[in-house]
Amino acid sequence: MKAIKIFAPATIANLVCGFDIIGLALNYPKDEIYMYKSNSPGIRINKIYGTSLPKDPKKNAAFAALHFFLNKYYQLKKINNIGFEIELIKNINPGSGIGSSAASAAGVVFGANVLLENPFNTIQLIRFAMEGERVASGSAHADNVAPAIMGGLTLVRSYHPLDITKLHAPNQLWISLIHPKIEIKTSDAREILKKYILMKNAIQQWGNIGALVAGLYQENYDLISRSLEDVIVEPIRSMLIPAFYELKKKCKEIGALGGGISGSGPSIFMLSKGNKIAKKVTKIMNRVYSSLRIDYKTYTSSINQNGLKWTEMD
Ligand code: HSE
Repeated sequence: MKAIKIFAPATIANLVCGFDIIGLALNYPKDEIYMYKSNSPGIRINKIYGTSLPKDPKKNAAFAALHFFLNKYYQLKKINNIGFEIELIKNINPGSGIGSSAASAAGVVFGANVLLENPFNTIQLIRFAMEGERVASGSAHADNVAPAIMGGLTLVRSYHPLDITKLHAPNQLWISLIHPKIEIKTSDAREILKKYILMKNAIQQWGNIGALVAGLYQENYDLISRSLEDVIVEPIRSMLIPAFYELKKKCKEIGALGGGISGSGPSIFMLSKGNKIAKKVTKIMNRVYSSLRIDYKTYTSSINQNGLKWTEMD
């Protein structure tokens, strides 16, 4: 195989109480990536459609992740005569908080692995993609790249060593999401967080995380709803997002289970049982934000159970 097309999903990181550890993949929106294997070494990003992203390797998540992958591959096979050409079609807006850099980074390492007949396993691919996140945001978190690659809902049990597991993702769980067109840099949104937390907050947070996981496996939507509470990160980051609590309140009033900030923001997401309620929730999101005179975009999606997909090209 010489050329493939990859579909890389948007993802929601920090699933409310699961800061840096729980994420999920969406069915919509998704990026498209065209990858060609070549016999000359190195990586060439030929075109980026849909946005202007830096082609400078020091700043480009796709390049950085693939660079890491390729160096490991050269070491493994003791060769250096393989390279890649890439075209990216970005449907996931950079800076939206729904894993735009993760989709690029995860997409290219996954694609390279397919083109080279799978020399690396899933955890290794996540590790390479995390280098893309490091370049894009200053931190090598895995809660976007893991669900992008594995699909569904994922949990990072440990970063050192990297240990990631898939969680049960009920089919009835739907997501409403609003992307306010304001800029919040992940590096800034991390910078403002406290380095130390109170024991009483930690207890509440890990109670919620455990109960959320139990709720997902039991498909107990009341328990899921009660567990969607973040007493550590949200109280700080929500200050950066206009009408955050008003929007959340209105969505819950019409039946949403709960929700929070998607990744480091500015997007806000809500979970609902079934697509009927999710669509209503998205409507409420539209209503709240159209009164604010801030440009925005909304999405309604189910959970993408499979993650990245690829097809062969001629
Ligand atoms: N867990 C990361 C953070 C996700 O919140 O900083 C960034 O998209």
